[in-house]
Amino acid sequence: SGTEKPPRVSWSFAGPFGTFDRAQLQRGFKVYREVCSSCHAMSRVAFRNLAEPGGPGFSEAQIKALAAEYKIKDGPNDQGEMFERPGRPADRFPAPFPNENAARAANGGAYPPDFSVLAKARTYERGFPWFLFDIVTQYQEQGPDYIHALLTGYADPPQGFPLQPGQSYNKYMAGNAIAMPKPLSDGQVEYPKGPDGKPAAPETVDQYAKDVTAFMMWAAEPHLEARKAMGFKVILFLIVFAGLLYFTKKKIWARVH
Ligand code: HEM
Repeated sequence: SGTEKPPRVSWSFAGPFGTFDRAQLQRGFKVYREVCSSCHAMSRVAFRNLAEPGGPGFSEAQIKALAAEYKIKDGPNDQGEMFERPGRPADRFPAPFPNENAARAANGGAYPPDFSVLAKARTYERGFPWFLFDIVTQYQEQGPDYIHALLTGYADPPQGFPLQPGQSYNKYMAGNAIAMPKPLSDGQVEYPKGPDGKPAAPETVDQYAKDVTAFMMWAAEPHLEARKAMGFKVILFLIVFAGLLYFTKKKIWARVH
């Protein structure tokens, strides 16, 4: 027993030029929708976000159809009544429970955290100044690494390990006891077929975990691609500008010895 260190995954979105893999985000969304969303909310994300540049790349028409599959609580209408209507692209994902108490009551007292920014939570957890080292060493993917590890880290507890009812043993959870039952198993989510008629990606726990984690990273940081592209241009500009300043300084101070 003891909490293990999450293994590092080579994410497409890591590093200064990282980008999301659209097909992976679409698969990850399918896993979220079919598995995780029965317990975990994603309350800051709207359907329309799924069609924005830098994301899973769904079309407007797909998003309209998707939103309409959800029932959204609205109201009060002019009779003062609450009502349900089909979703629209501007609506946010409806939460599986009306509030935290209801979520806890359904999960043996534990709260399934909201996914909106969860994937980023660990990146700055180490606090100042240690997170600066993570940025310099390009290790900003601690959140995704942890989530992937957690989803693949269910195992039989060692002999005599104390687990409360409703808890499972997990190699990566702090304290090794987690109130989330093992959510994924091989073959659980059907992936789109490639040209050869076989699934476009393996239908395995490991692949599901990678895909849903990538999707959660996009949800937490929808402008990651734009941010990295801008960062590159800014650094390039600063290098050129530093050169200009250097030669300007030399010229202006040329006659002073
Ligand atoms: C906690 C991910 C499905 C119930 C968590 C945590 C993550 C996560 C990252 C935080 C762990 C931590 O505190 O360090 C996922 C993903 C899922 C999924 C990606 C889908 C593949 C589910 C389902 C349920 C559930 C279906 C309900 C049956 C919970 C609960 C907790 C939790 C109760 C709190 C655990 C605790 O505090 O001990 N989940 N989850 N999750 N999840 Fe899930």
